[in-house]
Amino acid sequence: MICLGIESTAHTFGVGIITEEGKPLANVKDSYTSEKEGIHPTKAKEHHIEVADKVIKDALTEANLTLKDIDLISFSQGPGLPPCLVVGMEKAKELSKKHNLPLVGVNHCIAHLSIGELTTGCKDPVLLYVSGANTQIIAYEGKKYRIFGETLDMGIGNFIDSFARLIGIGFPGGPKIQELAEKTTNYIELPYSVKGMDISVGGIFTNLKNKVDSNNYSNEELSYSLQETVFAMLTEVAERAMAHCQKNELLLGGGVACNTRLQEMTKIMCKDRKAECFIPSNGVLTDNALMIAWQGILEKDKASKHIEQIDIKPHWRTDQVNVNWK
Ligand code: ATP
Ligand code: FE2
Repeated sequence: MICLGIESTAHTFGVGIITEEGKPLANVKDSYTSEKEGIHPTKAKEHHIEVADKVIKDALTEANLTLKDIDLISFSQGPGLPPCLVVGMEKAKELSKKHNLPLVGVNHCIAHLSIGELTTGCKDPVLLYVSGANTQIIAYEGKKYRIFGETLDMGIGNFIDSFARLIGIGFPGGPKIQELAEKTTNYIELPYSVKGMDISVGGIFTNLKNKVDSNNYSNEELSYSLQETVFAMLTEVAERAMAHCQKNELLLGGGVACNTRLQEMTKIMCKDRKAECFIPSNGVLTDNALMIAWQGILEKDKASKHIEQIDIKPHWRTDQVNVNWK
């Protein structure tokens, strides 16, 4: 069985193709970026509509297949930005109808976890899922992926991107902030905000904004201090979740996990507690459709040809999904 998956929750429109055995055949994406502003849902939607057919074609070419070879279509059903989600769903329905293929909508956050398990070989991890809109500590318990901790306000990636916008360096800000941070080790005190298993970054953002306005600190110092503070917070809550769930594997997921300083901190923490830290490659850490295709394979029993009843789920939570494939 071969599944073609479509991702379109936010800035990325992607198409991935994978076999039932977990052999990746294609992972193509085209992302909306902007020099001056953050993600603009309507512009991202227009971007997706424009590139969709080409991305589908390129993925099939990369896999050396035609649509006749595909057995199943999956798409990112949520959570995400409704205008963007609709583009992916409509394309998925179009392919399903035209080629009489079963269709399954999958949860984007859970797909991050599953592709991490597939590509790193970890068995029962705590997932530190850190992307633009999402920041969650997730672990499997009693047939559900449960959220043990999360951000109480902004997602960590959106927080970093907002800071990048504040200092005028465009979107996405993460890689640029990392570059700036690597230029100094001068730590400027920032609030540290862990509340039980949760974190919050709103207060840190206000504090950073005041520091930018004061003109007393360099962008390098602020970027370094931002990373040291919020990554320490993330590492702390990840460790607490591992202790609480008595799990000895940590899996990273989401675009912010591409950050090598965050990777370093989580590796040190895992080593200290004799646990293992699993870090997928950047291509499957950031939003991608290979994970959607793989999640489609895992949930193939839920696929249907009655596609009229299928709709987007913009606020779909990780712990609402019945996990029947583990
Ligand atoms: P989701 O829909 O799951 O919230 P997303 O659409 O935000 O995901 P991702 O590709 O998972 O997409 O993550 C993008 C985020 O990752 C952006 O906020 C970006 O700034 C951040 N990012 C990418 N590389 C780095 C890096 N090296 N350091 C820090 N942040 C990074
Ligand atoms: Fe994501």
